[in-house]
Amino acid sequence: MTTTGLPESLIATLPGDHYTDPEIFRLEQERVFESMWFCAARASELAKPGAFRTVDVGRESVLLARSRDGSVRAFFNVCRHRGARLCTQESGEVKRAFQCPYHAWTYGLDGKLVAAPNLTKMPDVGRTEYGLASVAVREWLGYVWVCLAEDPPSFEESVIADVVARLGDVESIERYEVESLEIGRRIVYDVKANWKLIIENFMECYHCATIHPELTEVLPEFADGYAAQYYVGHGAEFGSDVQGFTVDGSQGLDRIPGVTEEQDRRYYAITVRPQVFINLVPDHVILHRMFPVAVDRTIVECDWLYLKGVVAGGRDVSRSVELFDRVNRQDFDACERCQPAMSSRLYAKGGVLVPSEHHIGEFHAWLRDRIGTRANRAER
Ligand code: FES
Ligand code: FE
Repeated sequence: MTTTGLPESLIATLPGDHYTDPEIFRLEQERVFESMWFCAARASELAKPGAFRTVDVGRESVLLARSRDGSVRAFFNVCRHRGARLCTQESGEVKRAFQCPYHAWTYGLDGKLVAAPNLTKMPDVGRTEYGLASVAVREWLGYVWVCLAEDPPSFEESVIADVVARLGDVESIERYEVESLEIGRRIVYDVKANWKLIIENFMECYHCATIHPELTEVLPEFADGYAAQYYVGHGAEFGSDVQGFTVDGSQGLDRIPGVTEEQDRRYYAITVRPQVFINLVPDHVILHRMFPVAVDRTIVECDWLYLKGVVAGGRDVSRSVELFDRVNRQDFDACERCQPAMSSRLYAKGGVLVPSEHHIGEFHAWLRDRIGTRANRAER
């Protein structure tokens, strides 16, 4: 028996309130999503100067824009005058500036205040001082990552180090040339479940035999409940009669040139805390980004990324999209099945992690450490 009263082979999950309590969700918004590097958008969504996208990061709306010098800038989407939401569209393009719809303060693509009614008669309103408030930005794998922390942690020591801990190195991902791949398909899922249920589900494959008939055909070892991320850098091998990572195991597309022989015919799954899943197969990459919008609701944007020629040449990607789209729907259904029961009094102390799920316990310990909660409400 351990100190939790459970036998050694079982580990307690988080208690139910961690999936239902708005106060715990607020702590996560503040100490996780608004403090860590957050994968916000595909850089190609901001193709040319003036292109913009807004995303919710924790409790904040962030405005991403491609500036004149070609770099991506990020700002709090809040007018510096009286706080109106500057940009209400999810994406679009402006010619050269953002204008607040309230009193028409106008900001350049670099965030500087460039115009306002009577600005010349208001010498105390400095153009830089009252420019938009910047957010730290970094591009990696063709995605724009932002960090809302006042003093952002180093990207290398946080994000990259996390990947190395999960996969053994970072080159194994970079060989898939993810930054140069193009979006063949994006599907946005509105999942009525807490974001941690989605992560926990992604980290284990104990459920694969029950809910993923197509995936276990392609990756037979998953039928044994093998955890996708149980071994550092473990890639699940395609079945011997499987030709590609497609819904029916039929032929896929050309292999991404950088993928090694060792990585060929294998599927790798990596979680990048706090809200990204990367799935690598020889001919494409599937990348999930979660946007936790409420304690019981998470928007998931999933991109299927292919070599440039595949997308431009109009090659048929539907069978590869369909495989993981089905997997996603099967997974999110399972998460939505759990969510209502998280508030059951029976789940007040949580459930258990069986041996093939023990690594999820490490995610729980990390989260509790970050948000400062203990296993039980009484101990908080
Ligand atoms: Fe934006 Fe007044 S609130 S211009
Ligand atoms: Fe699954």
